[in-house]
Amino acid sequence: MSASSRIGPCDIVVFGGTGDLALRKLIPALYLRDRDGLLPRDTRIIGVSRAGLEDVGYRVKISGELGHSLPPGTADPRAVASFVRRLHHITLDVGGRFTTEEQAWRDLVVALADSGRTRVFYLACAPDLFGPICRSLRRWGLINSGARVVLEKPIGHDLASARRINDEVASAFAEDRTFRIDHYLGTETVQNLLTLRFANALFEPLWNSAAIDHVQITVSESLGVGGRVGYYDDSGTARDMLQNHLLQLLCLVAMEPPIRLDPEAVRDRKLEVLRALAPLTGAEVARATVRGQYTAGIVDDRPVPGYTDELGGRPSDTETFVACKAEIRNWRWAGVPFYLRTGKRLDRHAAEIVVQLRGVPHSIFPGVSPAALPPNRLVLRLQPDEGVELQLVGKQPGPGDLRLQPVPISLGATGRSGLLSPGPYARLLGDVLRGDPTLFMRRDEVEAAWAWVQPILTAWSESGSAPLHYAAGTPGPAAADELVARDGRGWV
Ligand code: BG6
Repeated sequence: MSASSRIGPCDIVVFGGTGDLALRKLIPALYLRDRDGLLPRDTRIIGVSRAGLEDVGYRVKISGELGHSLPPGTADPRAVASFVRRLHHITLDVGGRFTTEEQAWRDLVVALADSGRTRVFYLACAPDLFGPICRSLRRWGLINSGARVVLEKPIGHDLASARRINDEVASAFAEDRTFRIDHYLGTETVQNLLTLRFANALFEPLWNSAAIDHVQITVSESLGVGGRVGYYDDSGTARDMLQNHLLQLLCLVAMEPPIRLDPEAVRDRKLEVLRALAPLTGAEVARATVRGQYTAGIVDDRPVPGYTDELGGRPSDTETFVACKAEIRNWRWAGVPFYLRTGKRLDRHAAEIVVQLRGVPHSIFPGVSPAALPPNRLVLRLQPDEGVELQLVGKQPGPGDLRLQPVPISLGATGRSGLLSPGPYARLLGDVLRGDPTLFMRRDEVEAAWAWVQPILTAWSESGSAPLHYAAGTPGPAAADELVARDGRGWV
């Protein structure tokens, strides 16, 4: 019996059913699960949006969109035709106050009338709608015993709003029914990190400040903000990427071994890391962080507009780039900097974690200083391809003098990921259907991450200074290089 057939029939209700996230990631991920026989039989997907579509119109729209959003070679016409038959649409303005909305909620009640089916409410919409949607779901009696809710990041706009939203959600759904998704946690590489660290004896003795010099986490995007200017200008990179994706990756690198791979054990260990992060406040923020904003430039040989051009020429202090130096105050990591950086419209599309080991204490090689030996690194790549590489130093083969060279050892390529890949979503949706929240953020984690990011946001806004400009298609502001160079290091 396959895992999916053990899960009973299911209704997946996607609020924001015609939004960017649903069209680019979520619906393609559901299609891929369906194509691979991994959706429970009779699963229905109900898109909820203001689009004013009937089921037929929604199916036509999604068929068209799948053609653009699926990875090449994965759109099988027969599988697509069968998938779209699962789709329905309800027009509902969840933020609206008109009586017509009452009728739309009634329509949803009728659509979900069979109470024996598992219900997944996926909130792929703005976080300030999470509370109102959960309240309405409760009011209309839609939360049955198997119901669960999936919340997209960012949860809130700051610590206070995150707490308020979490309270509102908690009044409708128990914590073990609340799945706060961070799709980076669904990548093969992230799960491979847990395997490398805890299924091998090799790494753990070295996984501390005695052997590790520093860690770098980079998520570099060549895309700009595209059609999401409204959301993005209100959010910025610190809220969109640092508070969640980058801190989650940091947690998985830095956490202590959990006693077992279960949701609470893993999330307890991640929470400890967040609580051990040295706070960055006041003047510290100016020293340890860099924020930037792209101006017009050249990306992939094409001229692209600057960020404020995309806003229609309106000035804005929203950052599209962040770099920072984080320190974890605990026994394992004291003195090991974690350098984090992420931005849009940069020179490359790449996401990776680099764990750099300390150099050798002494060189036995004539004319080669210890500092001249290439450092050992473990590189965990998430984008554009997933893979893990260990970088060692070896001898150049052949006779003559002993010459040294870097030797990269691949510890497994785990496949193509890429911007359009719904892979992580497909995996995490399976976890939601199975009811396994291990790879989802718990409430206290989200709030601890906000508690660390909040003083940075406050210091930036109180400083009155603007983000540093960088031309699109470059690696970001030079100040990000200086941040690392001050410690005698460089970005990899
Ligand atoms: C999302 C952010 O969470 O992650 C986007 O909101 C960002 O701004 C995206 O582009 C990056 O993820 P991926 O998988 O497309 O690299």
